[in-house]
Amino acid sequence: MSHGKVHFNTIAVHGAGKPDLSRVKPVSVPIYQSAEFTFDSAEHFADVMAGKESGYVYTRLGNPTSQEFERRMALLEGADDGVSFASGMAAISAVILSYCGPGDELISSAPVYGGTFGLFKDLLPKLDIRIVYLPAETIHAELDRHVTSRTKLVYLETPANPTLDIVDLAETIKAAKRHNLKVAVDNTFATPCLQRPMEHGADVVMHSATKYICGHGDTIGGVAVANKADIDRIRTVAFKNLGGTIAPITAWLLARGLQTLPLRVERHSRNAQVVAEFLEKHARVERVCYPGLSGCCGHDIAKKQMCGGFGGVIGIDVRGGRAGGKSFQNSLKLCTLAVSLGSVETLVSHPASTTHLAYNEAELKEVGITPGYVRIAVGLEEPEDVIADLDQALNRI
Ligand SMILES: Cc1ncc(COP(=O)(O)O)c(C=O)c1O
Repeated sequence: MSHGKVHFNTIAVHGAGKPDLSRVKPVSVPIYQSAEFTFDSAEHFADVMAGKESGYVYTRLGNPTSQEFERRMALLEGADDGVSFASGMAAISAVILSYCGPGDELISSAPVYGGTFGLFKDLLPKLDIRIVYLPAETIHAELDRHVTSRTKLVYLETPANPTLDIVDLAETIKAAKRHNLKVAVDNTFATPCLQRPMEHGADVVMHSATKYICGHGDTIGGVAVANKADIDRIRTVAFKNLGGTIAPITAWLLARGLQTLPLRVERHSRNAQVVAEFLEKHARVERVCYPGLSGCCGHDIAKKQMCGGFGGVIGIDVRGGRAGGKSFQNSLKLCTLAVSLGSVETLVSHPASTTHLAYNEAELKEVGITPGYVRIAVGLEEPEDVIADLDQALNRI
């Protein structure tokens, strides 16, 4: 674009024309921060739009940075492809709406994350989608009896938030497949480093990528991976209909997070194991939930289906119930009072009054979230320092 022929305002918009990136070969994934993409001709434009040729049109429908994150995520989970989202909840809602419509039923393991429970309780009934909950521990044995002609989807979360209950993936998926049901698994707590549900026959795996995949507590994102037919179905609902697309910079942060995921998850797991073993012996702790402890009811199944560790989240029932839990939290000095998990810092929260507010008292009781139950998402600090802080806070109860 020559300076002489166009006006100042036009130069401000176009500069010297579109950059030639053909010789640019970055080592890291670049951030394609562009809402639209251009074409060589009107025919090319129409062909890409009609799906006759591959290409990028509009970032809500697909973006090179987001697709790089989706492909990497799919490779780690052993799936064909992925779809990335603005949050874990956007991923979960898009997956459910891809398979369930008015009159359908969904069978879910219990408990599930409070936001997911809220979606099941508040929105799905308005769409005439019915939920049947079965305990994580026994869903594999009970599923057969609860399937009806309306059941479309089996929804599993393991280890479960916040009780760390374990679903037997192999047996539950086998039971679901006897009825030709689709199975979606929330793999947020385990990550593909420790557990790969696709290997057991799951159809879709979802993540709150906000957690371990991001790893630093500085962004919100979600992802679902699946094989070809399922991912196309989810992509249409997610991008064309619902529109909860990820931002390119978020996809970039998450793709970067994946590069160190195995190292971080290994260390989170190792640290949590040491902390859980300490808590198990503490006089002010009445119960420790951590799948890495042989005394926990899901331990044997977790050992069978998780490889390389049991994750970074621990739940404890402190002595003194709700008041004990409050005193414990208020005495912490190093550990941070905050929701979420998978960050470098150790995060502590009280599920009944924070992340699981969607549950009423009876529902909390039903899934074993007691008034004194506190969740500890162990970070990457030296475990000795985390233990010292937990110990002093417990001793003040
Ligand atoms: C197991 C699990 N699934 C899904 C979500 C929702 O993810 P997001 O907060 O990224 O929407 C969370 C959030 O805490 C979670 O713990």
